[in-house]
Amino acid sequence: MKLAQRLSRLGTETAFDVLAEVNELRRQGRNIIALSIGEPACNTADYIKNAAKKALDENYTHYSPSAGIPEFREVIAKYVASTRGIPVQPEEVVVVPGGKPIIFFAMLACVEEGDEVIYPLPGYPIYESMINFAGAKAVPLRLREERGFSFDVQELRSKITERTKMIIVNSPHNPTGGIIPKQDLHEIAELSLKHDFWVLSDEIYSRIVYEGKAESISQFPGMKERTIILDGHSKTYAMTGWRVGYGVMPKHLAASVAKLMTNSNSCTATFTQHAAMAAMLGPQETVDEMVKDFRAHRDLIVDGLNLIDGFFCRKPVGAFYAYPNVTRACRTHGFKDSKQMQQFLLHKGGVAVLGQQCFGTRSPEDDQDYIRLSYVSSVEDIKEALRRIETSLNNSKLVEEFLDEQRTKEMAK
Ligand SMILES: Cc1ncc(COP(=O)(O)O)c(C=O)c1O
Repeated sequence: MKLAQRLSRLGTETAFDVLAEVNELRRQGRNIIALSIGEPACNTADYIKNAAKKALDENYTHYSPSAGIPEFREVIAKYVASTRGIPVQPEEVVVVPGGKPIIFFAMLACVEEGDEVIYPLPGYPIYESMINFAGAKAVPLRLREERGFSFDVQELRSKITERTKMIIVNSPHNPTGGIIPKQDLHEIAELSLKHDFWVLSDEIYSRIVYEGKAESISQFPGMKERTIILDGHSKTYAMTGWRVGYGVMPKHLAASVAKLMTNSNSCTATFTQHAAMAAMLGPQETVDEMVKDFRAHRDLIVDGLNLIDGFFCRKPVGAFYAYPNVTRACRTHGFKDSKQMQQFLLHKGGVAVLGQQCFGTRSPEDDQDYIRLSYVSSVEDIKEALRRIETSLNNSKLVEEFLDEQRTKEMAK
């Protein structure tokens, strides 16, 4: 039976494919350190788990309103108002299963076929996927290493046309760990007001910041009416598997997104919402502790990566990813690109990382190679991973064996 044509436009998040590969190798008895997936290694705090158990005992097992439990929407509205410095009404909040559905729903609700959406490259792969799926044109805006992985405002200006319907900003940023300077956000805000486009502001890492402050574009005059803030519990409260996130947006859009929820999920799991509300109202020390640990992990991994020949890593200021430039290492060892290095490190080094191809379609002018390493694992695992990366790359016989296998595979195709 034939599948719908629109599916050919749908991309994916290859981190999940790598995770499946890691699990298969582990099943075969291989010892793999996974620095590929973007989730805190620590477990959800007990007070949150207890709140979920209590909610189950109190039979919060029925449908909730599609936009979320009213008290939870109120808690979120107060939190976003105080952290972003803007007034927020509960009616402007929609609770969804994870942060990701906000990308899906924002695209379905705001973008027409033929519209253009500007998104960061490299960037979270679901942006490009969903823009294409919605039938819009995906217009990449390159983040430049020499600018601390920020973009050039002049370049942004040159990408705007009369079809530009939305720009996606993500700060702190996955995969580079960069934060967009306030001045740049201000410039985007002015462009949005002038050219009348939406801003999808992905702020899922807003609490994971080591230096300075991650500002929200919604704070600038006139921007609240045209900004969709995406945030959620996955990263901040180590709740990736619970699936709870939210969007903050103008009321009329919130009502439409709630309708999309009615049509797709009905609602976010009710007892999960109770636990997520308890997470926000409870002690926040566990979040602070986690960020303190990540900071130490960041310093460890960045220093270690910079000791590996052919690697250069800037110190990320937010999120929990290191994104070293590995161009010289790829050239020295004969890897075609960072994807081949990813395969080598997984199969010969026993370390799972992600090559830059996981973060959007490479542009022809792009001649640099990067890999992403998530530094949420234990200090021991990070140290061992660094040791494995260095020793496997320095083992020329192992590299040659891998490249031979690759050539054989390609010839067999
Ligand atoms: C930038 C960014 N946005 C959104 C998400 C989605 O988060 P969730 O797991 O809550 O759907 C992720 C997850 O990795 C992310 O990195």
